[in-house]
Amino acid sequence: MADYDFDVLVIGAGPGGYVAAIRAAQLGLRTACAESRETLGGTCLNVGCIPSKALLHASELFEEAHDGTLAKWGVKAANLELDLGQMHATRLEAVKGLTQGIEFLFKKNKVEWLKGRASFVDPHTVQVGDKKVRAKNIVIATGSSVTQLPGISIDQERIVDSTGALELAEVPKRMVVIGGGVIGLELGSVWRRLGAEVTVVEFLDQILPGFDADVRKEANKIFKKQGFEFKLSTKVTKAERKGDTVALTVEPSAGGNAETIEADVVLVSIGRKPNTEGLALDKAGLETNQRGQIETDHEFRTKVPGVWAIGDVIPGPMLAHKAEDEGIAVAENIAGETGIVNHNVIPSVVYTMPEIAGVGLTEEEAKKEGEVKVGKFPMLANSRAKTNREPDGFVKVIADAKTDRVLGVWIIASVAGTMIGEAALAMEFGATSEDIAYTCHAHPTHEEALKEAAMAVTGKPIHI
Ligand code: FAD
Ligand code: NAI
Repeated sequence: MADYDFDVLVIGAGPGGYVAAIRAAQLGLRTACAESRETLGGTCLNVGCIPSKALLHASELFEEAHDGTLAKWGVKAANLELDLGQMHATRLEAVKGLTQGIEFLFKKNKVEWLKGRASFVDPHTVQVGDKKVRAKNIVIATGSSVTQLPGISIDQERIVDSTGALELAEVPKRMVVIGGGVIGLELGSVWRRLGAEVTVVEFLDQILPGFDADVRKEANKIFKKQGFEFKLSTKVTKAERKGDTVALTVEPSAGGNAETIEADVVLVSIGRKPNTEGLALDKAGLETNQRGQIETDHEFRTKVPGVWAIGDVIPGPMLAHKAEDEGIAVAENIAGETGIVNHNVIPSVVYTMPEIAGVGLTEEEAKKEGEVKVGKFPMLANSRAKTNREPDGFVKVIADAKTDRVLGVWIIASVAGTMIGEAALAMEFGATSEDIAYTCHAHPTHEEALKEAAMAVTGKPIHI
């Protein structure tokens, strides 16, 4: 140790990095975390999960008051007004509270925050600002940032990325979202609910790549009903700012006649790329793969002894909870314990209304591996969803035809993000569809729809 300033130095204080640092400190390791942002918490807390959910919640309240949903329940909101400034203030308050919370946790666990950008000098030495720091173990948790669309420059005024789209000072009349993925649908929902006409331009023939095909189709139908316009199998070839508007040139993905769409705000949300620029990975003896990611083994070791990597910067879904779990596992592995993440059971949630969630294999993926049985149950037949006037969606359970083991669960429902937790737990424990079907579920809850979908795998749901 004498030669080292720290046992563990984590680069990046997002959900991967800050969790790794706290766990390492809890395990008795002398730990520091380098972060170049002014606040801790990374993308997720500062400009990702948290502020987007604050605006999703706020805009949902506004829409419910505005579109008669509340009135239907006898709650009348006369002289309804949108105070966007207040909405942003409450969003910022949520971010401030949570990022300061991480600062408190660092102090409590004696994690030293090294403020500044880190770059490798050698596999055990990192330059942070004007300081050289040596550590026995270095964890790269530098996360990801927005993928730019060639030829389209983001000005964060009229052509924005997700960060700009969280901060619009007024509701655009017409918003065009490039990319029908998670960010496009979540932030598109926010501004649609507040009054924007939203058009989504998606390169593929369907939205939400990676999700189960049934779910993608149903989601498309629901979002259309809500007022989204979709231009599928379409690509943007040019975006030109003209004063306060943007002229977008689009054409079929496969090529063909171009057309122009006018927008007041364009959101570019075509994916994210790992952050490795400026890290001087070569000085540590590392390189990235073709997708710009750092490769690791199952214990999150890179090919260089003492250098580890986790979160968005390594392969796998770019999700905060995946990064967090990897943060715990890497710290436990560094401490000589056994840290494991089951990458087959990582839930994924889109926080629209209704929410869309999945865990495990899609039906298409499962069928490639063998024979499957599928059970589906509509939310319309779930007493709680029906009572709450939230009839959209379904639960789908995919099980192995021979062993009945659950391979995947897909849900569209108002509280799908909460419901998917039970499915993930069941799958982590190797449950069969019968295990779920014979587990007593409280009534009346949305979760009963999962039980009924599991019952449907063997063909015997009760309420349909
Ligand atoms: P990050 O959170 O990106 O953190 C990396 C940190 O490292 C950053 O703070 C960065 O400043 C710092 N850093 C980078 N390079 C250096 C360097 N050289 N020196 C010092 N510091 C450095 N995921 C979900 O699971 N649920 C959601 O609801 C969700 N919503 C999202 C909404 C939006 C709008 C966006 C953009 C993302 C969302 N995500 C969500 C994804 C989630 O934010 C990421 O998966 C998660 O933050 C990844 O964590 P990480 O620790 O790997 O990296
Ligand atoms: P994404 O990968 O979810 O979706 C990008 C979409 O853009 C895809 O549908 C893709 O086909 C499309 N696309 C790509 N190039 C295009 C082009 N040139 N023209 C038109 N469409 C194009 O990426 P997104 O939405 O930017 O989000 C990035 C990541 O952030 C997500 O993958 C997810 O991991 C994370 N995230 C997670 C959230 C959650 O968990 N609720 C919320 C927001 C982000």
